Amino acid sequence: MVTNKTNPCCFLFSVLFLFMCLSLEPHVCFAVDTIFSNQSLSGNQTIVSSGGVFELGFFSPGNSSNYYIGMWYKQVSQLTTVWVANREEPVRDVFSSVLKISDGNLVLFNESQVPIWSTNVRSGSGSGSAISNSTVAMLLDDGNLVLRDGLDSSTILWQSFDHPTDTWLPGSKFRFNKRTNQSQLLTSWKNSEDPSPGLFSFEIDPVQTNQFFSVWNRSQPYWTTGTWDQQTMSFSLVPEMRVVTMSSLIYNFSCVSGENESYFIYYYHNSSTITKFSIDVSGQLKDVLWLENIQEWTVSFSKPRQQCEVYAFCGAFGSCNDNSLLSCNCLTGFQPTSPQNWDQQVYSGGCVRKASVGAGREDRFFESHFTSFPIDPQNMMAVSSMECKSTYLKNCSCTAYAFKNNQCSIWIGDLLNLQHLGQFTAGKVLYIRLAASEIDTDSSPINKKRVIVVAISVSIGLFLLGLMMFMIMKWRRGTIIGTEHENASLTVFEYRDLAKATKNFSERLGRGGFGSVFKGTLPDGSIIAVKKLESINQGEKQFRSEVSTIGKINHLNLARLLGSALRVRESCWYTISSRKDPWTDIFSMEQIQNL
Ligand SMILES: *[C@@H]1O[C@H](CO)[C@@H](O)[C@H](O)[C@H]1NC(C)=O
Ligand SMILES: *[C@@H]1O[C@H](CO)[C@@H](O)[C@H](O)[C@H]1NC(C)=O
Ligand SMILES: *[C@@H]1O[C@H](CO)[C@@H](O)[C@H](O)[C@H]1NC(C)=O
Ligand SMILES: *[C@@H]1O[C@H](CO)[C@@H](O)[C@H](O)[C@H]1NC(C)=O
Ligand SMILES: *[C@@H]1O[C@H](CO)[C@@H](O)[C@H](O)[C@H]1NC(C)=O
Ligand SMILES: *[C@@H]1O[C@H](CO)[C@@H](O)[C@H](O)[C@H]1NC(C)=O
Ligand SMILES: *[C@@H]1O[C@H](CO)[C@@H](O)[C@H](O)[C@H]1NC(C)=O
Ligand SMILES: *[C@@H]1O[C@H](CO)[C@@H](O)[C@H](O)[C@H]1NC(C)=O
Ligand SMILES: *[C@@H]1O[C@H](CO)[C@@H](O)[C@H](O)[C@H]1NC(C)=O
Ligand SMILES: *[C@@H]1O[C@H](CO)[C@@H](O)[C@H](O)[C@H]1NC(C)=O
Ligand SMILES: *[C@@H]1O[C@H](CO)[C@@H](O)[C@H](O)[C@H]1NC(C)=O
Repeated sequence: MVTNKTNPCCFLFSVLFLFMCLSLEPHVCFAVDTIFSNQSLSGNQTIVSSGGVFELGFFSPGNSSNYYIGMWYKQVSQLTTVWVANREEPVRDVFSSVLKISDGNLVLFNESQVPIWSTNVRSGSGSGSAISNSTVAMLLDDGNLVLRDGLDSSTILWQSFDHPTDTWLPGSKFRFNKRTNQSQLLTSWKNSEDPSPGLFSFEIDPVQTNQFFSVWNRSQPYWTTGTWDQQTMSFSLVPEMRVVTMSSLIYNFSCVSGENESYFIYYYHNSSTITKFSIDVSGQLKDVLWLENIQEWTVSFSKPRQQCEVYAFCGAFGSCNDNSLLSCNCLTGFQPTSPQNWDQQVYSGGCVRKASVGAGREDRFFESHFTSFPIDPQNMMAVSSMECKSTYLKNCSCTAYAFKNNQCSIWIGDLLNLQHLGQFTAGKVLYIRLAASEIDTDSSPINKKRVIVVAISVSIGLFLLGLMMFMIMKWRRGTIIGTEHENASLTVFEYRDLAKATKNFSERLGRGGFGSVFKGTLPDGSIIAVKKLESINQGEKQFRSEVSTIGKINHLNLARLLGSALRVRESCWYTISSRKDPWTDIFSMEQIQNL
């Protein structure tokens, strides 16, 4: 910058400038997108991409006292990190730690000036050092941090897009290397305050490279996108993509296969959309969108849909419940392995026994009526529950058993993937081994007959109670249908109710694919759109299956399907949708076209 060093005025200016950089207002110094080899990033200094989209510097997640080099959205008021450099090696003092170009790499030095993270592309020896002082690191507007030779800006030596953490940004390639059979990988954070790699990852299936899956601990797949279909530009098990991509409404998604690698890439049509795919600490793949007007992130979709479908989400001996604020509970007789993690809503550590069992102790089996069966049972034939118990349970290592339909199932070791069932299910009882002290019974050795009599009357009582609850549940369910239950059940509307709601189809909003869309108001005041499907040559069965497919779709930019109606005489079908988001009750033209 200082071209004429003999000019005292200019010299004074640059000294002042340097002074400001070092002490007063470090941000002034780095209102740039590049780290040159003569600069370093420390303390609260950051670099910002040229269009002001992304920012890079030290951050500490939540209330953590650990600091990491990360990249976040500059315009988003809630700190949202899309990439972290030193995931596993935090620093504590940011003012004595420094990120700088060293020997041709971008390197993070900790408080003791020990390198703890590096781009690792060039060694400091040989010819490398001759050009090392021209390497620059530049933050681009798409969220890519690139390392290149300052003299030759076309060659990218390293880029953060090739080393994602938990987030896949629009415009970045998700690669599969065909030569090594290795997929790029997204790995969830351990918890919301610790970016080190957690148990969940999202990767390309190495066997069938045109599909992704979510994997637990790099070994147990629990959700897959299904295979990519070039024709419909969507994955077989993500039907909502078909609607979104085919209409080129929101984003385009493509798969490119070459000799040495294949990759997936997506773009949002409106490039100013702030959005990302990431594998969440919950193990779900989430597509989120920043809503400027309400200053909040909103989840467009999450997969698997239900939290309890995530493999081992509640850990061993935990029971998952999708209808409760607290997703996980320990089984009777168990307590959280780490109450702290449990409080932070990280349940993967599971539960441990309150009192140990086996080896000379007196054990009992606790009857659990409200949980599903765990995964990985060993199944044997048996004629009765008694036989099941007497034959197989001598094996002391078994933790639970169940008897159903002449089949005796036993579980050895940890019980995983249990789900809390909302209702009593007759005949589905899981017996869990517990220390006798954990089971609240009169343990004095009394006459067996009495025990049996008591047991029978208790069973009958329980059965009647269960039956009653079952009836109540059923009755309650029946009344809920059509008002609240999202997608679980779609209402079948009467034609005359639709005619009434739409004032005899008087207010036409526009034309969508395959028919006209009318505005209506339900008796409860909610605004709906009614689509009249015209000239569709399909049977009722086909129509119903179509409706149920749309019903499962729940994308923010699409209206939510409430139900359907059928008018046999006119051979017309109707679908009825409502806006999901609360801040507006008007359907956009885009949505109408998509209904
Ligand atoms: C650092 O190097 C860059 C490029 O070589 C140069 O433009 C800039 O003026 C230098 N900055 C300082 C503070 O020396
Ligand atoms: C950056 O750190 C310096 C030194 O501690 C402090 O004086 C300054 O207020 C900080 N700036 C911002 C924007 O936080
Ligand atoms: C940080 O701690 C405060 C007080 O302990 C708490 O209210 C807040 O929710 C915590 N923030 C996060 C992100 O955990
Ligand atoms: C810096 O990193 C080295 C290597 O990981 C470690 O031994 C040292 O304790 C760290 N220094 C500080 C102050 O944490
Ligand atoms: C880069 O380093 C070489 C050798 O160390 C030196 O000759 C050259 O002047 C340096 N270039 C810059 C721009 O500092
Ligand atoms: C990659 O996978 C393919 C098909 O599964 C196999 O034929 C090939 O040998 C594998 N290559 C390597 C390097 O593992
Ligand atoms: C994850 O897998 C590794 C071995 O690949 C194993 O050592 C570790 O215990 C597993 N973690 C859990 C929580 O099971
Ligand atoms: C694939 O790799 C080979 C060997 O490295 C190279 O010669 C070839 O050009 C590559 N093909 C493509 C399309 O990049
Ligand atoms: C997807 O959209 C991007 C940006 O709008 C465009 O550059 C690209 O060519 C599109 N790709 C396909 C396959 O349509
Ligand atoms: C693109 O998105 C931005 C921010 O959400 C919005 O302000 C703008 O109107 C959108 N542009 C188009 C063409 O929809
Ligand atoms: C207990 O069951 C396991 C698994 O079926 C078996 O390997 C083991 O030999 C059994 N032990 C006894 C004492 O029967």
